[in-house]
Amino acid sequence: SFLGIDIGTSGLRALLVDGNGAPIGSAEQAFTTFNPHPGWSEQDPADWIAALEAAIATLRAKYPAFEGLKGIGVAGQMHGAVLLDEDDAVLRPCMLWNDTRSHREARTLDALPDFRALTGNIVFAGFTAPKLDWLRSHEPDIFRRTAKVVLPAGYLNHYLTGDHVADMSDSAGTSWLDVGGREWSDTLLAHSNMRAGQMPRLVEGSEKAGSLRASLARDWGLSGEVIIAGGAGDNAAAACGLGLLEEGEGFVSLGTSGVLLLARDRYHPDPQTAVHSFCHAVPERWYQMSVMLSAADCLTWLSSITGARAEALTFALGDDLQPPGRVQFFPYLSGERTPHNDAEIRAGFVGLGKDTDRDALTRAVLEGVCFGLRDGFEALISGGSKPAHLFAIGGGSTSRYWLSLLATVIKTPLHLPEGREFGAAMGAARLGMTATLGAPVSEIMGRVPTAEIIEPIAALTDAYDAAYLAFRAGYHLLKSHTAG
Ligand code: XUL
Repeated sequence: SFLGIDIGTSGLRALLVDGNGAPIGSAEQAFTTFNPHPGWSEQDPADWIAALEAAIATLRAKYPAFEGLKGIGVAGQMHGAVLLDEDDAVLRPCMLWNDTRSHREARTLDALPDFRALTGNIVFAGFTAPKLDWLRSHEPDIFRRTAKVVLPAGYLNHYLTGDHVADMSDSAGTSWLDVGGREWSDTLLAHSNMRAGQMPRLVEGSEKAGSLRASLARDWGLSGEVIIAGGAGDNAAAACGLGLLEEGEGFVSLGTSGVLLLARDRYHPDPQTAVHSFCHAVPERWYQMSVMLSAADCLTWLSSITGARAEALTFALGDDLQPPGRVQFFPYLSGERTPHNDAEIRAGFVGLGKDTDRDALTRAVLEGVCFGLRDGFEALISGGSKPAHLFAIGGGSTSRYWLSLLATVIKTPLHLPEGREFGAAMGAARLGMTATLGAPVSEIMGRVPTAEIIEPIAALTDAYDAAYLAFRAGYHLLKSHTAG
């Protein structure tokens, strides 16, 4: 058997698959995100390890196939900085991808032409390099003691192998990788007052990164070598899980963040659009994506202030798409990346009346998230062609209403993958299989079949086009409000 691990933002998932890559069973463990100040978003890496150990205990107890484990792949939320000292002790909580405290540092680094030229990306506030720059001025002692910087998946790789090793797809989100050349850039590290020795060793996501430490293998009741793959950032892993490796194949993810991803067979940087261009988790492939910082997270927020579960909020709308509502929501709860690159913008509701009820707020939130995704979609396809369809994944994709709305707003059919959707954990398991079996990527990462297609509602596309235009004007209104 093989194991795929995904350290997401809301929790960890461990998925056990058989020798053919078919799911045997999975275990999930939630953990907490801490927001000690506005714009800060942190997790304790010790919580990830506790979640992993709990998930392994569940899998071991339930599935005898765990005993025959041969290979593991790890996927993780991208960009988070885990700082290790000389003895590999964690120096402070991990600053996550949606932590925007270092937006000033990001702007300063982004103004140096080398960053966009070598990474193919804007230096966004959530990326890793500006976090270290923030640390240098605000926590200089920790900055000085930092011997290694690893990403969340790299930290788990370190726990599993004892080595510091990272894959290309995740490393592409640090702002220190030469994304076309797939190697650390000494120039960019120097701009950040960092050294190559502080970076993990690079491997491709589908290559072997190391073997499971003997003591862990013993604790988990395993014998024989267990291979650990390079792994991946979660978005690249999700694409591997669906088998999206070829030019123009892609997905839209309604996760905590909202992502539209298209695989590319070459490196096509397009930083001025705020589109991300990263290495894929397999050799000689790249991908591009638009990222909105708060997608399903907006619904989670509405749920927390209304006291109703997110599923209850969307269920109350029924399955049939209604025309756009009068109330509008702008989904910038934590700022925005694509297309605005604006860490300081904040969200808003417009058009509230005494008649506004909970359902109207829910509809507005779902619509605002879809309009934000359309913003990203327009940026993504401005440099290439529009995909004929996209797979739809992520927690929000369990809502029929939301899927129908999204297909209509981006005027693109959405394919639902067959079987239970395991997201990045499935891609991680496939990377583990590829690294262990040494088989060609194409053999292991076949395209998942489509179970169902959600078509745009043609009778409503004009109305949603008009509402989208109004949404775009709203950003500037909020901008002046935030600035004032
Ligand atoms: C991508 C990004 C998010 C995280 C979510 O750039 O920041 O999608 O990967 O885990």
